[in-house]
Amino acid sequence: MKLKDCHNFNDFRLLAEKKLPSPIFHYIDGAADDEITYQRNTSAFDDVDLVPNVLRGVEEVDLSTTIFGKKLALPFYLAPTALQRLFHYEGERAVARAAKKFNTMFGVSALATVSVEEIATITDGPKMFQFYFHKDRGLNDSCLERAKAAKFDVLALTVDTITGGNRERDLRTGFTSPPQLTLNSLWSFATRPMWGINYMTRGKFELPHLQDFVKEGTGTNTSIGNYFSTMLDQSMSWKDAERLCAQWGGHFALKGVMSVADARRAVDIGCTGIMVSNHGGRQLDGSRAPFDQLAEIVDAVGDKLDVICEGGIHRGTHMLKALSVGAKACSGGRLYLYALAAGGQAGVERAIGKYRDELVRDMKLMGCRKISDLNRDNLRYRK
Ligand SMILES: Cc1cc2nc3c(=O)[nH]c(=O)nc-3n(C[C@H](O)[C@H](O)[C@H](O)COP(=O)(O)O)c2cc1C
Repeated sequence: MKLKDCHNFNDFRLLAEKKLPSPIFHYIDGAADDEITYQRNTSAFDDVDLVPNVLRGVEEVDLSTTIFGKKLALPFYLAPTALQRLFHYEGERAVARAAKKFNTMFGVSALATVSVEEIATITDGPKMFQFYFHKDRGLNDSCLERAKAAKFDVLALTVDTITGGNRERDLRTGFTSPPQLTLNSLWSFATRPMWGINYMTRGKFELPHLQDFVKEGTGTNTSIGNYFSTMLDQSMSWKDAERLCAQWGGHFALKGVMSVADARRAVDIGCTGIMVSNHGGRQLDGSRAPFDQLAEIVDAVGDKLDVICEGGIHRGTHMLKALSVGAKACSGGRLYLYALAAGGQAGVERAIGKYRDELVRDMKLMGCRKISDLNRDNLRYRK
């Protein structure tokens, strides 16, 4: 199987599985506990059917949307994800270039392996910095100031990782950052020699936003669960989020809001957006899927800030359903991460291109010319 054989999410996933040592593949592919929320994130879209309209003159389709005051050419963007250099040696550089090419937003994780300063030299397109609230206030200030100086457009505070999710696949494979060989994973590293050669020879593994402050995740092998449990501040409160929002002074979002009450408070503290998200099912298993929860959140705050639907998206039609409910945009992690592992920048570009083509085709089939043509009349719920 080659990149040219990848036509959809599952194809990219299969190729990623072939290319990555198993602890790394399962770090992307896995989720919390029994992974029920993870599955539901995608299957939720199947409980709703699209109702198309015809004879609408759809020779031109405009997929653009505006979030956080920035116009994106596509109604979806690339959610911030950690440790991308483990997935492909080009890491965030590849993703930044692909996002620039398609003029969509790139979310850069606090746990990125390329610095915000370097990303800013790669793309002048829309950029979001994802912020974790650490116990170390010096580290927090440094992240914020660096993202501001690098002219990032949005700061997104992740609020659903107050402690690490129980990712049992990582426990079984012994996944750590940087990766280490264990008896269990030896075979999968040995059978993917290209990954190992690239990892060893294409520059040092670094976490540039953290490394001046801590050992975790840089010099020492640590699990992501450990990072969440030991370094992040579990006393984080609405007061802290409000202070951070003021300190940032620009577009500010909470990533991982699931209740209407929290969405309303996000408005009160000055947020200009929220990601309705459960971290791709990687945190609280048994929690509700973003798409299931979207309508009530849009009804409560959709006219006051940008509501983004994130998680479980595998298809253009999934995005059309979320946009019809009232999301301003969609975003996803795995929808580009498998492609990154499968083929670096070319892989991410191929994936974004496939989703774009699906969206154009499906918009035409729906009888819609622009994103604002989508609305709840286009949907019928099965139960
Ligand atoms: C491998 C991986 C790493 C992630 N790292 C981060 C991170 O560093 N910060 C963060 O806020 N979210 C992180 N996320 C969550 C994503 O931003 C996003 O919420 C999630 O991927 C959405 O679900 P999806 O993968 O089904 O699209 C990560 C997700 C994955 C799959």
